[in-house]
Amino acid sequence: MTFTLDQFRLDGKVAIVTGAGGRGNSIGRAYAFGLSNAGASVVVADLNGEGAQKVADEINAAGGKAVAVQVDVSDEASTLAMAASAIAEFGGIDILINNAALMVDISYDSIDTVPIEAWNKAFAVNTTGALLCARACAPSMRTRGGGRIINQSSGGAYPATSLYGITKIALVGLTTSLAKQWGPDNITCNAIAPGNVTSDAGKMLVPDDSPFIQFLQMAVATKPRGEPEELVGAAVLLCSEAGKWITGQVIHIDGGWIMRP
Ligand SMILES: NC(=O)c1ccc[n+]([C@@H]2O[C@H](COP(=O)([O-])OP(=O)(O)OC[C@H]3O[C@@H](n4cnc5c(N)ncnc54)[C@H](O)[C@@H]3O)[C@@H](O)[C@H]2O)c1
Repeated sequence: MTFTLDQFRLDGKVAIVTGAGGRGNSIGRAYAFGLSNAGASVVVADLNGEGAQKVADEINAAGGKAVAVQVDVSDEASTLAMAASAIAEFGGIDILINNAALMVDISYDSIDTVPIEAWNKAFAVNTTGALLCARACAPSMRTRGGGRIINQSSGGAYPATSLYGITKIALVGLTTSLAKQWGPDNITCNAIAPGNVTSDAGKMLVPDDSPFIQFLQMAVATKPRGEPEELVGAAVLLCSEAGKWITGQVIHIDGGWIMRP
């Protein structure tokens, strides 16, 4: 089959993006807009239901098709209800981006002292949440002949030196496990590991005047920080016909941070 740019289109596809309704300039919002611009109908899912509605309204105002769903990804019943809403609204599910996570509101205590409650909560949202959402969406994907799952990992997982990083490297294990087990059902599963991104949350964690930015400037091969929109092209590829043979991979979108000495 000759390659055409149409293979990047997502017309007729239904996508759920979790964590897409939180802070104003967020990565989830950029993913939701990007998938919509590529032709998909989008379920904007977030713990913050009002924020999700705002993003869905923006997508609809721009000519896309979106609905908002309030979800707690760490609660199995809530993830099943999210999948049911997507099916009721758009007829099924083809794409899931597991983007919801605790990144700012997470303990950065030393691993030997981090409270176990904080540890369990972080894993419940950042790691188990992705599994629950994947399980909730897989039956519909199977009835539609396959699907695409993207787990949002992080450069902070390479190497993991904090609770946050540990939850994100665990997501890579979930990614390869799902890729292996669900590949025969034509469901691909990949991870995106962004470097430092200038979302509102990213800027809260690493302000512009942080000394860490100077370190990044020395360590990153190109520019040290990325915009949320700079992650979208890879996500569209992984969700599209053009990316159907890519599975079990981690795509590092980080300006070359992963190559630092
Ligand atoms: N910003 C960065 O520099 C950066 C770098 C690497 C990876 N990431 C990852 O990218 C993703 C988005 O990051 P962001 O910068 O847009 O942050 P963000 O805080 O704006 O996005 C996280 C979203 O998850 C939602 N959320 C939290 N708990 C939830 C739950 N239990 N159920 C449903 N939704 C829940 C929040 O409401 C929020 O909207 C996260 O997975 C983050 O770990 C971010």
